[in-house]
Amino acid sequence: MLLLKDLDFKGKRVFLRVDFNVPLDEKGEIRDDTRIRAVIPTLNYLLDQKAKIIIASHLGRPKGKFNPKLSLKPVARRLAELISQKVILAPAVIGDEVDNLKKELRENQVLLLENLRFHTEETNNDSCFAQHLANEVDYYVNDAFGVCHRAHASVVAITEYVKKSAAGFLVKKEIEYLSRAIHSPEIPYAAILGGVKVSDKIPVIENLLNKADDILIGGAMAYTFFAAQGFEVGCSLVEEDKKDLALNLLSHAREKKVNLYLPSDHIAAPAVAPEAEAETIDAFPIPSDLMALDIGPNTVRKYSKIITSAKTIFWNGPMGVFEIDKFSHGTMDIAEAVANSDALSIVGGGDSVAAVYKAGVSEKISHISTGGGASLEFIANETLPGIEVLMEK
Ligand code: 3PG
Repeated sequence: MLLLKDLDFKGKRVFLRVDFNVPLDEKGEIRDDTRIRAVIPTLNYLLDQKAKIIIASHLGRPKGKFNPKLSLKPVARRLAELISQKVILAPAVIGDEVDNLKKELRENQVLLLENLRFHTEETNNDSCFAQHLANEVDYYVNDAFGVCHRAHASVVAITEYVKKSAAGFLVKKEIEYLSRAIHSPEIPYAAILGGVKVSDKIPVIENLLNKADDILIGGAMAYTFFAAQGFEVGCSLVEEDKKDLALNLLSHAREKKVNLYLPSDHIAAPAVAPEAEAETIDAFPIPSDLMALDIGPNTVRKYSKIITSAKTIFWNGPMGVFEIDKFSHGTMDIAEAVANSDALSIVGGGDSVAAVYKAGVSEKISHISTGGGASLEFIANETLPGIEVLMEK
């Protein structure tokens, strides 16, 4: 795989694919610019090298239609502030006008294309669209780790139409950290998985069963495992059609002698609401009018002990509805435990990353991935379409 240092960018037109899919508030202002900041080292390097830089990103899911609310305008403004120079925002993604702007670019200038997903061809990995994206371009740099699990035109097909393709600093760093958790994890290796749906996590759990010593399950997904075993879980969320899969995962864990832990106590309430009265339940059944919304204190103690003695930790998904304070203790305490461990700690996934920030412990995590789906898929499949294609070139 080529890296930035392997190419001479002076005077070259570089298509830099980034993931500026940032959260926006009701006024269309950026709520969190972490993903923009994450690409600044690559951008500064290309500027130092006197490249002509064409940046492209998606924002949200406009499903192939122009949507002014998903324009990259606010991103262009923020980016210009961060690099202290003008960012030219193209009026479109492809077309004559955009090609002219590309041609007119001078060394050290930055052009930002409009939202790639204003075209369905982007998500269809369409070759013709990719060819248009590559018009006037010499080199392609992928620094969009968060979207490397998508075989989209600006991630995969475009590499067919440029002279050389390389990985940016962010993609390189993400691969390095996540690969350590895949190929050479120091043991004991604890994986913490939470969130709502077990269906999102099946491939990752399957693969972790070959690597991890302990898998700690929290969040609503735990209740599909419980319901599958016949426990009464009240009105907790259960994916009825995934119960068999949950049973399979439990039996694979036994076969492989991996400790797969489920919560031993639960914080439950009649509704997901700040005013709902919360109860600690430490044995089944969970009353029929209550739903589990956080892990209980015994579970926190047990999980924290395992986390403290781990040497590698991968965490994806919160332990409960941490956005509501009374259901956030499990997630916050697990974030503290991860932060205080000496292990190589990797946190991926929008919600768990938000939890780490909410707990104020982000500085103590070895690596916070910018990719939610991408980090999960990388741990599950050990590669991603966007990385595969860079390896091939
Ligand atoms: C993300 O936010 O995970 C990435 O930007 C990918 O976005 P997507 O799930 O809409 O493809």
